[in-house]
Amino acid sequence: MTESQTADERHPMTGNRMDAGVSSGLERHAYDVVVIGAGGAGLRAAIAAHDAGASVAIVCKSLLGKAHTVMAEGGIAAAMGNVYAEDGWQVHFRDTMRGGKMLNNWRMAQLHAQEAPERVLELEEWGALFDRTEDGLISQRDFGGHRYARLAHVGDRTGLEMIRTLQQRAVDLGIDVYMECTITELFREAGRISGAFGYWRETGRFVVFESPTVVLATGGIGKSYQVTSNSWEYTGDGHALAMRAGASLINMEFVQFHPTGMVWPPSVKGILVTESVRGDGGVLKNSEGERFMFDYIPEYFKKETADTIEEAEGWYTDKKNHRRPPELLPRDEVARAINSEIKAGRGSPHGGVYLDIASRRSAEFIRRRLPSMYHQFKELADVDITAEPMEVGPTCHYVMGGVEVDADTEQSIVEGLYAAGEVAGGMHGSNRLGGNSLSDLLVFGRRAGHNAAYHAYRARDSRPKVTDEQVRAASAAALHPFEVEGGENPYTIQKDLQDVMQRLVGIIRKADELKESLGEIEKLKARAKQLSVEGHRQYNPGWHLALDLTNMLVVSECIAKAALEREESRGGHTRDDYPKPDDRWGALNLVLTLPDGETVDLKHQPLPVMPEDLKVLFDQ
Ligand code: FUM
Repeated sequence: MTESQTADERHPMTGNRMDAGVSSGLERHAYDVVVIGAGGAGLRAAIAAHDAGASVAIVCKSLLGKAHTVMAEGGIAAAMGNVYAEDGWQVHFRDTMRGGKMLNNWRMAQLHAQEAPERVLELEEWGALFDRTEDGLISQRDFGGHRYARLAHVGDRTGLEMIRTLQQRAVDLGIDVYMECTITELFREAGRISGAFGYWRETGRFVVFESPTVVLATGGIGKSYQVTSNSWEYTGDGHALAMRAGASLINMEFVQFHPTGMVWPPSVKGILVTESVRGDGGVLKNSEGERFMFDYIPEYFKKETADTIEEAEGWYTDKKNHRRPPELLPRDEVARAINSEIKAGRGSPHGGVYLDIASRRSAEFIRRRLPSMYHQFKELADVDITAEPMEVGPTCHYVMGGVEVDADTEQSIVEGLYAAGEVAGGMHGSNRLGGNSLSDLLVFGRRAGHNAAYHAYRARDSRPKVTDEQVRAASAAALHPFEVEGGENPYTIQKDLQDVMQRLVGIIRKADELKESLGEIEKLKARAKQLSVEGHRQYNPGWHLALDLTNMLVVSECIAKAALEREESRGGHTRDDYPKPDDRWGALNLVLTLPDGETVDLKHQPLPVMPEDLKVLFDQ
């Protein structure tokens, strides 16, 4: 059930109408659970909350179905044992922890490995059409860092199939969806979540959602970087909303650069080239034609990684030899190796390296297993991947850091505020294994939605309220860019921020560059306060970006600050001046908060201690 009512909007200082040229009223709705974001985590959370009896709204910035989930193309990691019977949750748990360089929240990694198979089967029950093995089971493909082939997949369009299935289910269940509606603030009463404030992108009119629970499922932060697989929506909104509402973020220094994004032509630079290309036999070569990954096998993975071409070929052909090819090392290792080859002058003409599947698999196999990649390269780069190699290079893909949550319930330190999927931190430690994001958002989306519904039920007789004063303040903040005359354009500030993050807080980092980045971010923050937008509130992308920029800046500051603090190299954080992992840092989370709403504060916090019965898995 929703309630709607209208009220006049006036600027609290000037008393002027705050509609900048559009007649407006304030729309209000009340729900038990408001889910912000409609990717896999948001949809799964909404379904779980609905199934638990709650009234639920999904609010999404973009059109329903347009989510970064579709960029997890290769599959859903789940130890179903369909291809290797010896696979099981313990092996998946261990791979995930090792891939994250042991910085993961062990309990999240355990729940994830235990529950992922059930979530895949449930998705199939809801209509997802997975590829099959010859025995008719759900097929599972190889991906980096996974000991066994365990990614349930639909060609190279798994994320898309997942979204299609969940979206259809949510719509069938009659869950209310507010599309093209951006949330700019969360409200609290006495420390408890009481609702959210946003605007319709089309009309610019404001909307208030009153709710004792909010589930953040807003995805990542990729748009803070120049080269990214993320699209325009991914501006760290959930991370920033959580901080402004009093929640904490952890481990924001860990940013995943997927090893293979397109590098040419410039208009498509950063678009993802799925890891499935390597999982299905593709190999990386430099400009001298060498399979250079053999030169970059780290000590930690030596025992199980092939160090000769013959060994690697043995694995590809009979799959019984478990010395896996080095192209299937975890992503952080592969991205760093590619970066080093390019820096050493052995890159391809457009600043990448070569990814070759044409010389290793038949055209029929490539078109069947990798249909999207085939079309993507043909249409965007005029390259036939069944006949010639692709040019690829690292692209900012995912942030491992995010909202600090309780592992079992996904509640943040703020009562009523939950987070699931990429916006939540802890699960992936310092580096996520490919395929673990789709399973993450199913496992923890469901848990978050379920627990949020339970929380709302317990709050049914004492629901926190949203006050008029809070609404007025949120409206004034949103309209501020219209009040500044002759200020700078938000697009210039965004471009400068992306340049700073790419140049100074990229794959390889150093103290002096990180310090410089923090100085630059301070200047950008000052400039952003003085930016102005033209026109009125209807269809005004400049205004939308101005509001997104606030989030991008705070999230970028978190990344740079944590990256400067962590004096070691681990997973998605490589320090040129501290090139090795350091055990002291390996036991610490870096926790970021925004105590005064302006300046990021950083603290050290010991990692939760893994129980002995799980520790022994690492001795095997
Ligand atoms: O390469 C990919 O298909 C991406 C998968 C993921 O990020 O999990």
